[in-house]
Amino acid sequence: MRKNIVAGNWKMNNDLSETQALITDLKSQTKTTNAEIMIAPAFTNLYSAFDSLRETSIEVVAQNMHFATNGAYTGEVSAKMLQSVGIETVILGHSERRAYFGETDEILAQKVDAALAANLRVIFCFGEELADRKSGNEEAVVASQIKNALFHLDASAFKNIVLAYEPVWAIGTGETASPEQAQDMHKFIRKTLNDTYGNDVAENMSILYGGSVKPNNAQEIFSKPDVDGGLIGGAALNANDFFAIVNAF
Ligand code: PGA
Repeated sequence: MRKNIVAGNWKMNNDLSETQALITDLKSQTKTTNAEIMIAPAFTNLYSAFDSLRETSIEVVAQNMHFATNGAYTGEVSAKMLQSVGIETVILGHSERRAYFGETDEILAQKVDAALAANLRVIFCFGEELADRKSGNEEAVVASQIKNALFHLDASAFKNIVLAYEPVWAIGTGETASPEQAQDMHKFIRKTLNDTYGNDVAENMSILYGGSVKPNNAQEIFSKPDVDGGLIGGAALNANDFFAIVNAF
């Protein structure tokens, strides 16, 4: 059965003391919810965050990792390193990684393989740019991003994958896809999965929407049948806003 998930992507925000302060705020608000809750602090703060949230329902996840297990990759972090500080889930393919750090579908396929081989769960991000949508190519772009990075996998691998559709034009811009645009794309993504892997994989896949999700629009977006949650950037940096979004379920 697919799960509702709300994940906060903190990006390159919050040093150690700011991380601890936000976690204290989050802990004071955690109660029973209808969604799995995740936060993704910076690498330097993962262990502290994990340690502070051990006995809670908030999972700490990583924003990225390298595909190699170890070696001469200055500045990089491996799956094993993440696991050694308690991490069980990693975000891969965020549009900022693709745009600013040259991550291609081919690199992402290797990262996905490395994460799954290490038994990490993957939140795989993808989404079209504004020019793609203006030219009516958004479905073709999204289908190729998913196929190139994931469709070499066996059907059984998909139980450890969550998809996050994040149209680039809606990230950090204040502009959201309308609930209908999100629903249409999520339905298309589920159909794309169904065409290759069948109904089980398609129906059990959690597909998150990301891009300027805020307390005032979350409920309408999450009410769509193929939207199973959100990947939240800016609004995840404030505990009240983040929990308002979590509680939209
Ligand atoms: P945003 O970011 O909510 O600030 O638009 C979303 C994301 O990048 O995951």
